[in-house]
Amino acid sequence: MSTCPVDSRVIRPIRFIAGQCQMLDQRLLPVEEVWRTYKTYQEVAEAIRTMVVRGAPAIGVAAAIGAWFGARDIETESSWEFYQEFEKVCAVLLATRPTAVNLSWALERMKHFTQSNLERSVMELKIGLEYEALAITQEDEKANRQLGQHGESLLADGARVLTHCNAGALATAAYGTALGMIRAAVEAGKKISVIADETRPFLQGARLTAWELQKENIPVTLICDNMAGYLMSKGEIDCVIVGADRIAANGDVANKIGTYTVAILAKEHNLPFYVAAPISTIDLSLSDGTLIPIEERDGREITHFKDLQLAPEGISVRNPAFDVTPHRLVTAIITEYGIVDGDYLTGLNQIVNRR
Ligand code: MRU
Repeated sequence: MSTCPVDSRVIRPIRFIAGQCQMLDQRLLPVEEVWRTYKTYQEVAEAIRTMVVRGAPAIGVAAAIGAWFGARDIETESSWEFYQEFEKVCAVLLATRPTAVNLSWALERMKHFTQSNLERSVMELKIGLEYEALAITQEDEKANRQLGQHGESLLADGARVLTHCNAGALATAAYGTALGMIRAAVEAGKKISVIADETRPFLQGARLTAWELQKENIPVTLICDNMAGYLMSKGEIDCVIVGADRIAANGDVANKIGTYTVAILAKEHNLPFYVAAPISTIDLSLSDGTLIPIEERDGREITHFKDLQLAPEGISVRNPAFDVTPHRLVTAIITEYGIVDGDYLTGLNQIVNRR
């Protein structure tokens, strides 16, 4: 039975070990470090929906593992029947969160494996799907490390980097995208410090980015979201690096709500605005960012903090979880296959299709 590598120094929010998976419950960080065990695809779907696991690449990895759980439990000898049942499993996982394309990317890859191997026995398909899920996990970590190597060249020694949300190890199989660039620069011997936006309302910056950087002794200072402009105006920020949930063919970037605001601030202050993402986050099927589905979450995330009520009973609330930053505000997109800037339409197409 396959496993993911175990190295206690590396933060890996998803462990895929001996037919089950454990996930670090990110809703409880930084106060409690609780690992939960999952054995069925329905349980994994619920973990994605309720944000036990979150971050675009991490939910892709979780969905692939969930899909394998579903596949393993299908009882039939017919490969065609197996495929039909497997599609239903994938549909349940796909319905959990709409914005991050990594989810559908991973599920499409699992379905494609099945569809293109229908001449094999059901047992062979199940074994193959387990390997596919493991490969998706391992390839994500590798992509982030490569992306980090490309991206760290953009960071000067002493750089003070603003980041929004958590695009770190916790949002991926390991290492992170935006924080992967920072980790790679630190590993290259540069002194990098991070300013982390708290990221209302789910507080991925305050709870998760702050937690993982502090754990690795990378200097990090926490600010409220509305403080970024002030710090930029005082010359206390050198560049912005964020992750992405989906990048359209023209380079428009969907990421955590508030990213667009930060990009405008960066433009106003002539600061580079970098997006770090693996190619599994690029969706060439969408011509521009207006076509990206934006998740709207429960208003209670805004009116309450845990059980504490912050706003009047019955108040009308909007809670879009993501926004879209137009490509004209993006200085460069850093992927595992290199850096794209300028003509995103051509550059992203070349990188995804590697021509
Ligand atoms: O709602 P979340 O926490 O899943 O949103 C996460 C983000 O927006 C991240 O910035 C994005 O997924 C990139 S993670 C490498």
